[in-house]
Amino acid sequence: MSEFSDKRVLVTGASRGIGWGIARAFSEEGAKVALIDVNEELLEEKKGEIENMGGSALALNVDVCDREAVKKAVEKVIEEWGGIDVLVNNAGITRDRLFIRMTDGDWDSVIGVNLTGAYNMTKAVINHMLRQRSGVIVNISSVVGMTGNPGQVNYASSKAALIAFTKSLAKEVGSRNIRVVAIAPGFIATEMTEKLPDDVKKAYLERTALRRAGTPQDIANLVLFLSSDRASFITGQVYVIDGGMI
Ligand SMILES: NC(=O)c1ccc[n+]([C@@H]2O[C@H](COP(=O)([O-])OP(=O)(O)OC[C@H]3O[C@@H](n4cnc5c(N)ncnc54)[C@H](O)[C@@H]3O)[C@@H](O)[C@H]2O)c1
Repeated sequence: MSEFSDKRVLVTGASRGIGWGIARAFSEEGAKVALIDVNEELLEEKKGEIENMGGSALALNVDVCDREAVKKAVEKVIEEWGGIDVLVNNAGITRDRLFIRMTDGDWDSVIGVNLTGAYNMTKAVINHMLRQRSGVIVNISSVVGMTGNPGQVNYASSKAALIAFTKSLAKEVGSRNIRVVAIAPGFIATEMTEKLPDDVKKAYLERTALRRAGTPQDIANLVLFLSSDRASFITGQVYVIDGGMI
C-alpha cells in the first residue's frame, strides 16, 4: 500500500505539463486527484486517463482567478471525498515582454493567475485543513523568482511573491500541522517552454549543469516527497530543482 492511498489531492493547471505530471504521479501512488484547469477538453481527456489506469479523478473546469468558482469547486471536492489533504498551486502563465513594452494587461493577468490564483485556492482550502488539523500546500514558484530574468518582470514578481506567501503562511499554520512549501523549477520541457524561440531554449540548456531540460516527472518526484510523511518536519522552505542552473 502506498503512503498516498486514498489521500485527496487537488492540483491546479492539471491538464498538461507539470500539473498533469504531478496529478498522474499522485494517482499512480493511489491518491484521488481533483484536476482544476481552464482547458475543458484536455481536462476530460486526462480524467479519463486516470480512470483507465484504475484511479479516481474529478475534473473541475475552473479558472483559478474566479474566486466564486474556486470556492464552489473546493466545496464539491470536499463533498465528494470528505476532505483535501494536499493542494498543489501549479496553474501559471507567462506574458513575456521587456518592461518598457509590458502592458497593464500583461502585468494584471500574470499576477492574477500566478499569485492571486494561488491565494484564491489556498483561501478556499485553508479553513478545511485547519479544522482537519493536517494538510500540505505546495506552491510551484520558479528559479526566476529568486534570480530575476529580463522580459519577465511580471512573471518573476509573481513567483517571488509566491515564495514570500509560502514562508509567511507556513509560520501561521504550522501549529495546526499544516505544512506549506514552494518548489522553484528551472527549465522544464512543457508546452509553456516549447513556444520559446530556439536560441532562448539553447541558452537555458547551456546554463543548466546537467545539460538537459527537466521533465514534469522530475518535478512530480519532489512534490510527492514534500507532500509525504517523509517530509513531515519540512515547512516554509523553497526547493530549487533546476539541474544546476542557478
Ligand atoms: N516549464 C517550466 O520551465 C517552468 C519552470 C518554472 C516554473 N514553472 C511553473 O510551473 C507551472 C506549470 O508550468 P507548465 O510549464 O506546465 O505550463 P503549461 O502552460 O504547460 O501548463 C499550465 C496549465 O495551467 C492551466 N492554466 C492556465 N491558466 C489557468 C487558470 N487561470 N486557471 C486554471 N488553470 C490555468 C493551463 O490551461 C495549463 O493546463 C507554472 O506555474 C509555471 O510558472 C514552469
